Amino acid sequence: MESLPVLRRFVLAQSRRPSQTTSPLFLDFLAPTSIRTQQTQRRYSSSKPRYVLSKQQREFLDGALRVNQAGELAATLIYTAQSPQVVRSHPHLRPLMKHMYEQEAGHLKTFNNMVAKHEIRPTAMYPVWEVAATFLGWSTAALGREAAMACTEAVETEIGSHYNDQVREILSWEADAARRGEELDDELKEMLSTFRRIRDEELEHLDHAVANDSKEAKPYDPLVDVIRLGCRAAIKISEKV
Ligand SMILES: [Fe+2]
Ligand SMILES: [Fe+2]
Repeated sequence: MESLPVLRRFVLAQSRRPSQTTSPLFLDFLAPTSIRTQQTQRRYSSSKPRYVLSKQQREFLDGALRVNQAGELAATLIYTAQSPQVVRSHPHLRPLMKHMYEQEAGHLKTFNNMVAKHEIRPTAMYPVWEVAATFLGWSTAALGREAAMACTEAVETEIGSHYNDQVREILSWEADAARRGEELDDELKEMLSTFRRIRDEELEHLDHAVANDSKEAKPYDPLVDVIRLGCRAAIKISEKV
């Protein structure tokens, strides 16, 4: 888990860059075709015209990538806070906790790269999410293994459906493009497959949590409800702020 400070420094450095106080929304594949270079055009795999994203679609991606980065940051911090306590009382869970943490760290790296590449402003709420995620991880693990797993179940239920919404949205653009005889940008297609892969990995974490007695957490309902509510609020806020 030693890579986390590096990732955090990266995000903080990004958020401090003055040129990123507003998202430009006009770079590379997010850009209208008119301002693309010949060289950029040549890297496309097919001869069909490119589907040009509307301002609304670009804003959707801008918010989506900001939320995804924030969510993955929170996920790494939750596991970082949970793992020592969970592993101390249940050593057999060490490989599982390590596996889930490493996948989250991979997701975070992916979104850090996308956010940097497309010059998207990271959420200004980062310091708040940092404290909240660490507290959530620490407190649920203090309640026991079942509560720690219930936390994963709650978070992954929200995050999995959040990624699913993004996949559905981009698929609707793909369908729109097909109707017009156009094609999505290669990079956008790659982003779609990345979202699908990460969604599947989040749902895998959800399955691990249920298999490890998340439903036995006490009190299960209020715990899961409040975490899910918190996730939904954090998603809404990070889309804009
Ligand atoms: Fe993740
Ligand atoms: Fe996850």
